[in-house]
Amino acid sequence: MTVDERHGPTDIDEVLTTTRAVRKRLDLTRPVERVVIERCIDLALQAPNGSNQQRWRWIVVDDADVRRKLVDIYAAAMIDYINRPRRSTAPAATAAAPSPAMQRMTESVMWLREHFHEVPVLVVPAIAGRTDDAPVFEQASRWGSIIPAIWSFMLALRSRGLGSAWTTLHLLREREAADLLGIPHDQYMQAGLFPVAYTRGTAFKRAARQPAKQVTGWNTFPLNPNPAAGG
Ligand SMILES: Cc1cc2nc3c(=O)[nH]c(=O)nc-3n(C[C@H](O)[C@H](O)[C@H](O)COP(=O)(O)O)c2cc1C
Repeated sequence: MTVDERHGPTDIDEVLTTTRAVRKRLDLTRPVERVVIERCIDLALQAPNGSNQQRWRWIVVDDADVRRKLVDIYAAAMIDYINRPRRSTAPAATAAAPSPAMQRMTESVMWLREHFHEVPVLVVPAIAGRTDDAPVFEQASRWGSIIPAIWSFMLALRSRGLGSAWTTLHLLREREAADLLGIPHDQYMQAGLFPVAYTRGTAFKRAARQPAKQVTGWNTFPLNPNPAAGG
């Protein structure tokens, strides 16, 4: 295929509303051409970034052995996450039952964990200048210099018939992934781990989200007491 051959939607509103976290519909059998990944990164690099310093680096893993090692780190980090100390001391029986949507998401997350090593390409975007313990200004400036580009990357994938899912769990073991991938850990922060594959079919639905009116305040903070509840 040529670099710009499109197999997904190109209408901007459709791309913005249907770029989902794709896990179970990643096509694990179809290879992804390096040229397509490079094209999507090229597009992503048009994103805004602080003082146009372009401090990003993109580590693309398509070697099966390295993928397996990276995914082992993700799986170990997921166990760390599941076993993390909880703030609440309430007995589990009193916790609200997960909604069907939450159950579907959990099932999808677990499916990805089982099949992550089969995903043909894994991408780790990194940004120079660690902000551990930094003031919010520095944190926002640094993360704001890589996250818009990553989202552009995901949108570019979508319009070409590929999909991904934003994942951050492996960052619980960021150091191990840095050592594996040769990332200078004292200088660079990894933003996440992105599985990339063609999708099985290209029709994806718009997500259920709160309406803008519920979370937007004109000239002052919005009054909705609990925007996260979505009610
Ligand atoms: C910051 C962030 C971290 C996430 N971490 C993970 C992760 O570690 N593993 C995973 O399977 N999905 C992860 N997700 C994907 C979310 O579960 C997903 O975006 C959310 O359920 C909404 O689904 P949608 O993107 O299809 O609308 C993450 C998403 C974000 C934005």
